[in-house]
Amino acid sequence: MDELTALVTAENARRVFEPGEQGVKSATFTIEANTSVAIVGPSGSGKTTLLSMLGMLETPTGGKLDILGRDALSVSPRAVAHARRAEISFIFQAFHLIPHLTVEENVTLGLHRQEEKKVPRQAQVAAHLAALGLTNHSDAYPRTLSGGEQQRVAIARALVREPRLLLCDEPTGNLDSANGAIVVDALLSSVSPTTAVVIVTHDEELAARCMRRIRVKDGLAESVVS
Ligand SMILES: Nc1ncnc2c1ncn2[C@@H]1O[C@H](COP(=O)(O)OP(=O)(O)OP(=O)(O)O)[C@@H](O)[C@H]1O
Ligand SMILES: [Mg+2]
Repeated sequence: MDELTALVTAENARRVFEPGEQGVKSATFTIEANTSVAIVGPSGSGKTTLLSMLGMLETPTGGKLDILGRDALSVSPRAVAHARRAEISFIFQAFHLIPHLTVEENVTLGLHRQEEKKVPRQAQVAAHLAALGLTNHSDAYPRTLSGGEQQRVAIARALVREPRLLLCDEPTGNLDSANGAIVVDALLSSVSPTTAVVIVTHDEELAARCMRRIRVKDGLAESVVS
């Protein structure tokens, strides 16, 4: 498995909705392990749709898309569920925290049973809370946090599971520059020889810090030299 350097291979992959709706018309690129990738492009160009395809939330309607060794066009719901539990984390634009759980409990939700053995879970959660500047808010409930703080909790929850593929939709969209920098550092430093992070962003500074760039325009997605 560690020999698999291409985590994602897309060849003319599409996700078309109703006729006339654009979605993603064609995506061709490779995402290798040990890389950070920015997905950039105008509003409505297909970035979120593309990210949803990479997270196996949207099934392609044509072309080829291989994600972590699975064919996204024919993968079974069970295999999708497994991949999303064990290998893929998604940071949504809306952060979906559980309101009646504390910050620490929300982040702990990111872990699943198999991972509990590696490092004691409390230590693992605490390390991620610290990295995102949330230690003082561990026992707080989401409603008592600012939007930016909530976003950082969602990011800690996604990072704590150490996914092979970390998919983020505008992770710094709600943040000021100081908190944006904390988040970007945490996301980029999570990249390892077996993992990649993919970030949809309108933030040129963030895109410039990523190693690779995929440009989406009018539903067409391809790698560009940044
Ligand atoms: N479920 C859907 N059904 C029909 N059309 C859709 C659906 N999801 C997205 N689209 C269409 O596909 C296009 C791309 O949408 P998408 O959300 O991927 O854009 P985006 O690049 O993420 O934009 P933004 O930067 O504003 O978030 C839009 O024209 C949108 O209307
Ligand atoms: Mg979007």
